[in-house]
Amino acid sequence: APAGGPVGSDFVRVKSPDVKYTEEHIEARYSYHTATVSRCRGTYTVTPRTTRFTFRTQRSVPKLGVMLVGWGGNNGTTVTAAVLANKLGLSWRTRTGVKTANYFGSLLQASTVCLGMGPDGEVNVPFRDLLPMVHPNDIVFDGWDISSLDLGRAMERAQVLDWALQEQLRPHMEQLKPRPSIYIPEFIAANQEQRADNVLMGSKAEQVEQIRKDIRDFKKKSGVDKVIVLWTANTERMCDIVPGVNDTAATLLATIQGGSEVSPSTLFAVASIQEGCAYINGSPQNTFVPGVVELAMQQGAFIGGDDFKSGQTKVKSVLVDFLVSAGLKPTSIVSYNHLGNNDGRNLSAPQQFRSKEISKSNVVDDMVRSNNVLYAPGEKPDHCVVIKYVPNVGDSKRAMDEYTSEIMMGGTNTIVMHNTCEDSLLASPIILDLVILTELCQRITFCTEEDPHFQTFHSVLSVLSYLCKAPLVPEGAPVINSFFRQRTCIENLMRACLGLPPQNHMQLEHEMQ
Ligand code: NAI
Repeated sequence: APAGGPVGSDFVRVKSPDVKYTEEHIEARYSYHTATVSRCRGTYTVTPRTTRFTFRTQRSVPKLGVMLVGWGGNNGTTVTAAVLANKLGLSWRTRTGVKTANYFGSLLQASTVCLGMGPDGEVNVPFRDLLPMVHPNDIVFDGWDISSLDLGRAMERAQVLDWALQEQLRPHMEQLKPRPSIYIPEFIAANQEQRADNVLMGSKAEQVEQIRKDIRDFKKKSGVDKVIVLWTANTERMCDIVPGVNDTAATLLATIQGGSEVSPSTLFAVASIQEGCAYINGSPQNTFVPGVVELAMQQGAFIGGDDFKSGQTKVKSVLVDFLVSAGLKPTSIVSYNHLGNNDGRNLSAPQQFRSKEISKSNVVDDMVRSNNVLYAPGEKPDHCVVIKYVPNVGDSKRAMDEYTSEIMMGGTNTIVMHNTCEDSLLASPIILDLVILTELCQRITFCTEEDPHFQTFHSVLSVLSYLCKAPLVPEGAPVINSFFRQRTCIENLMRACLGLPPQNHMQLEHEMQ
């Protein structure tokens, strides 16, 4: 399929009285069906509700700039190199043959959705063709790192990509140099100290000012229309949430002027929001203290996170979804990881491991809670997560899982899994999906019949949940971890923007005689 839709034309065009194409927008009328439930003397009464929405999607796709915090790390260098390799159409020899650049692992670029029936059967198109969206090849990267290595040498340090590919990329990658970053040693592991040779000086407020200047400088020099900032730097320790320090936007801004207990990632989030940029957190720490969430809402900027959902957790959100929705009862889930990259080295420190452990631990809660046949209120399976640093395996992370479930009549079903995979090659397409989906959401507005004033999505962009281990959602909204529900949410939301009903998989047309 061709890369990226030419402006003004569409890969998918909907012919319906509910859908209007103007120069600027795709405008779709959409009926959203929900239900409210009440219970009286043992009977549930379900009342269907219909809300009429109008979705408006801006058709012109901007030139997107992405600034990565931790640009010189394994993910930062790998995603930059992968986009470059795709853009240049590179191929390279390995001992098993010639490989060609691709975007496998990206929901938007490499997975498909069904549009309906054509003359030759089902028609499936890549997600990226549903609505006008940025193509990864067109993204311009920039960023910060506390390590000064240029991206050519940083890519070599990462030991992720084949050497023959690195040789082709080096002349391009070595031109890219991370900007000096905010380094507060107490937040990441002490074992990272020797990397920190590219750091900003001055007060916290001055450093935030510098980050804001960097964003403006990048925008000006690169000519991009829009910038999204994404944290793929090392996992920090959790931040204490303290009233009067970071519980509101005002206290947080005051603390940046003079106080302590503000993490580098929170400082980056504040700088990005103040520049009107969306900010995404790819690591597990609680960057989004209440003060950041309030600031984002005040400024109308999107925030999303936390922690890329790439390997073991993605499998967990599939497998537990399968077990619980098949009526089997997981009673224990034990996950071991060992990895030998710099992320693993950082996570070998207790406080940073704790951030990851928390992020990995809550991923089955919604599925367990949804089934009151299997689980009593408050009952949960035992769930244990272990991470060890083993330098020898490098970026090729090992994940071993044991799922024990109770089956019919007291039987036991044990599933054991072993997964080996280059971690950064799973995370990189997720980084691309995160920024491209966020950018698309920035161009979507909607209104209802009751409230005809067009609005954007909530600042806390929960539609990114599919891509995150510990999804951040608006206060009071349910957290969804289940893989299929998360994916369906994205698919049906995009269909709504085209005035198409949710995918229902009923196949009724094949049931009729
Ligand atoms: P990495 O250690 O190779 O890269 C992190 C980079 O951040 C390093 O270059 C480091 O110098 C830099 N850094 C540290 N503190 C910084 C700061 N304050 N400002 C700017 N740069 C800073 O790690 P990797 O493998 O790239 O992972 C990055 C993050 O993504 C980690 O927090 C990891 O837990 C998270 N993650 C990775 C997944 C994966 O599959 N690779 C999955 C889920 C999360």
